[in-house]
Amino acid sequence: MRLGCITYASEYNPVAMLILKCTIDYPMRYKTPTSKLEGLNQRDRRNRLLDDVKKWGKWIHEEAKSEIERFYPLENDGSIDLAYLWARTIPCQNPNCNAQIPLMRQFWLAIKDSKKISLYPYVFMHKVKFKIVGTSYETTPKGFDPAKGTVSRGVAVCLVCGSAVDNETTRTLFAQQKSGQRMVAVLSEKPSESGKRYRISTDDDLRIFSDAEEYLRSKRDQLMREWGIDPVPDEESPGTVSSQGPRPRFGFNVFGDYFNSRQKLALITFLEKVRVAHRKMIDEYSYDEAYSRAVTTYLALGVDRLADFGSNLCRLNPTGGRGVVDTFGRQALQMVWDYAESNPFNPSGAGWITACEKNEKWIEHASAIDSSPAEVLQCSATSIPYPDDFFDAVFTDPPYYDNVSYALLSDFFYVWLKRSVGDLYPEFFATTLTPKADEIIADRHRWNSQERAKQYYEAMLRKSFGQIYRVLKHGGITTVVFAHKSTDAWETLINSLLDSGLVVTAAWPLHTEKKGRPVAQETAALASSIYMVARKRAREPVGFYADIKQDLKAHLNSTLPDIWEGGISGADFFIAAIGASIQVFGRFEKIMDDEGNVIRADRLLEDVRRIVIDFAVKQVLRNGFAAEISAMTRLYILWRWAYGDAKLEFDEARKLAQSVGINLGERWNQGFIKKEKEFISLLGPDERDSADLEGSNELVDVLHHVLLLWKASNNEGVLKLLRETGFTKNDVLYKVAQAIAESFSADVAEKKLIEGFLQGRQRISEEIRTQSEQAKLFE
Ligand SMILES: C[S@@+](CC[C@H](N)C(=O)[O-])C[C@H]1O[C@@H](n2cnc3c(N)ncnc32)[C@H](O)[C@@H]1O
Repeated sequence: MRLGCITYASEYNPVAMLILKCTIDYPMRYKTPTSKLEGLNQRDRRNRLLDDVKKWGKWIHEEAKSEIERFYPLENDGSIDLAYLWARTIPCQNPNCNAQIPLMRQFWLAIKDSKKISLYPYVFMHKVKFKIVGTSYETTPKGFDPAKGTVSRGVAVCLVCGSAVDNETTRTLFAQQKSGQRMVAVLSEKPSESGKRYRISTDDDLRIFSDAEEYLRSKRDQLMREWGIDPVPDEESPGTVSSQGPRPRFGFNVFGDYFNSRQKLALITFLEKVRVAHRKMIDEYSYDEAYSRAVTTYLALGVDRLADFGSNLCRLNPTGGRGVVDTFGRQALQMVWDYAESNPFNPSGAGWITACEKNEKWIEHASAIDSSPAEVLQCSATSIPYPDDFFDAVFTDPPYYDNVSYALLSDFFYVWLKRSVGDLYPEFFATTLTPKADEIIADRHRWNSQERAKQYYEAMLRKSFGQIYRVLKHGGITTVVFAHKSTDAWETLINSLLDSGLVVTAAWPLHTEKKGRPVAQETAALASSIYMVARKRAREPVGFYADIKQDLKAHLNSTLPDIWEGGISGADFFIAAIGASIQVFGRFEKIMDDEGNVIRADRLLEDVRRIVIDFAVKQVLRNGFAAEISAMTRLYILWRWAYGDAKLEFDEARKLAQSVGINLGERWNQGFIKKEKEFISLLGPDERDSADLEGSNELVDVLHHVLLLWKASNNEGVLKLLRETGFTKNDVLYKVAQAIAESFSADVAEKKLIEGFLQGRQRISEEIRTQSEQAKLFE
C-alpha cells in the first residue's frame, strides 16, 4: 500500500517524540528502497535497519553478559532465574516485639487451574520464615489463605506478635527510611521444560546480591567520571503517582530509588553498552551520524523497556504470562509492598532479548508500509509551526482530560533516555525532566482546583483545535479520538470543538481498550473511544435551542438503536451517544435560547443524557413498564448497567441522578446512596441492614430486603414482605431484579444473590397463590 501523502507528526513530550521517530520515520527512511529490491528473492531482501538493530542488540547482550551475568547465576539444575521476589519490610511497632514485618499483599506464587503454589510464612526464633507449599511442594496447611497477605491499604500485621501498624505509621516509616527489604523467593525455569520452579532464597542469593551492590558502587563512580553525570538517575522523582495525581512518597525521592542495587547495575551496564555501540558504529563501521543515531535510539528504547520491567514497582503475576507485571501496568507509579526483580538475561522473561524482539517487531511492521518517512517534530499543539490552509487531513489523539499524567509518568523513561541518547538529541533533552508547562491535562493538583484545571484544559484544547482549523485546507478533514467517562471531560471537548470553527460531521464508538487491563478491573473503565470526524467548512451562524432539542431527539432516537445493536453498553453507551449528538449542535457557530442566552455543552449534554437514559431504561427493562418505576429505581438500574458496583466522582453521580430527576445533594447517605470522600457508590443488598429497610416501599429497598430474607432462608418473611408491599400483584420487582443481575459483567455477589433468588421465583409465586387461595377460603 503506497501512502501517496507526506506525513507530518508532532508531539510535545520528548519520549513520545522518539517513539514516533522510531515508528513513522526511521523504518521508512532506512529501509532498502523498493526499486533496489526488485528481482531479489526473499532471502536476499535486506532490511538494513532491522538487521543492524538486531546485530547491535545481540552485541550489547553479549557484552553485558560477560560483565554482569555472574550476578544472575544458573540454578544447580541448570535452570535460569526468571525473577527474585522481594518483600519490603518495616519494624513492628510493638516495643516488646520489634520483629521485621515482611510486607506482602498476598502469598500466591502460581494460581492456575493446573497448579496452586504459594509461600507459607511461619515464625521461628522471633523471625518470619517462609516455605513453599502447594502443587508438587509441601501440602498447604489447612485454613491457610494465600490471598491474605500481611498488608492491605498500608495497614500491616506483624506475624510474630499479631499487632497492627496503621497506614499512616507505615508511610512515616518509609518516609523516615526505616523500611527495608528482604529477598524471599526465586523463580526459575528450564528452557527445555515447561513450568516455573520456586524456591526460598538463601544466604548465597543475598551474598551474590551484595556482590552486585559492591560492583555497582565502583562502576557508578567510573561512569560518573566518564560521563560527568550520575549514571543512576538522581533527578527528583514524583514519589508515587496514581490517576488521581501525586501520592505519598514512600522514600522514592529520586528516580534511582525505583530500582534496587542489582537493577541499577543492570540498567547502567546495558546503557553503557548502548553508548559504546554507538561509538563503534561510527568509528569502526563508518555509519553516518544520522543512521547511527536511528539504530542507537531503538537500543536506548530497549533499555527503557528493561527499566519498565526492571523496577522495584514490578509485581509478580501469579496467574501466568511472563511472571512479572511491568511498572506501568496501571498507567500510574503505584507503591507495591512486594516486588519481582527480573533477570535481564532470561530469554523468555522481561529481559533484554524480549526488549529487542519488541524493537524488531516494530521495525518489521512499520517498514512494511510503503510510505515516505514522516517529518516528526516536537511542538505544542497550541502552536503548530505550519502555514494556514496547509494540510488536507489532521489526525489527533489529544490527552483525555485528567486520565493520564503523560509528562509526569514519562519522566521515568526520560531520565534513562537522557543518559543513553541525550547527546544525540540535545534539543529534546535540554531540560532536567520532560517539559510540562504546555502539557494539555486537567491536573487539579497543579491548579489546586478542579474548576481551574478544567478551564486550563478547555482553553488549551480550544487553542489546539483552533490551530488545526487554521492549518487545514478549506474542506479539509480532521479526526479527533477521545475517551473519558466523565461528563466534565466531554463538556470541555465539545466547547473547545464548538469554539474552534470545525464542524463535526460524524462520530463512532470503536472498541479500543483491552477488557482485562488492570485499571478496567477496578473502576468502570471504558472499553471504547469515540472517533469524531470534523471538517473545515462554513457553519450556520446561530442555532436555536428549541429546534436543536427536536433535532437532537430525532437524531438520537434514530442512532441509539444502532449503537445498542452494535453491542456498545454501559458507560460506553453514554459516550457513544454524546459523540453522536455532537453532529447535531456542531453545525452552528453559536446556539441560543429564546432569551438570547448562549447555550454551552453542559446544557446540551443534560438533554443528551435525558434522551439516552429514557432509551436505556426501556432497553434494560426490555421496553417494559419503564414509566412505572420510581426515579430512585431508575437511578439504581442505570448505575448498575453503566458502572456496575463501581464508585463515581460526586459530580458525575450528581449529573446522572439529575437526569432521572434526583437531587443527589439532598439524598446522599440515604437509602442505598453512599458518599465517601468525593465518591458516590450505591450499596448492594449485602451492604444493607434489614432494620433500615423495614417499612420502605422503594422498589430497590424491597428487593434488597427480600434478597436478605431469602439469603437467610426466611421464605415466610419473603412472602410476607412481597404481600405487604404489593409486589405480588405484578412482576415488576422480578423484571427489575433480572435487569440488575444482567447488568453485572463479572460474577459479583449481588448478581449471584439475585440469580439465586430468581431461580426460586416459581416456587415463591406458587406459595403466594396457594396462600391467597387459602385466605379466600376463610373470607
Ligand atoms: C492520548 S495520548 C496520544 C497517544 C498516541 N496516539 C498513541 O496512540 O500512543 C496524548 C498525547 O498528547 C501529548 N500532549 C500533551 N500536551 C500536548 C501539547 N500541548 N501538544 C502536543 N501534544 C501534547 C501527550 O504527551 C500524549 O502523548
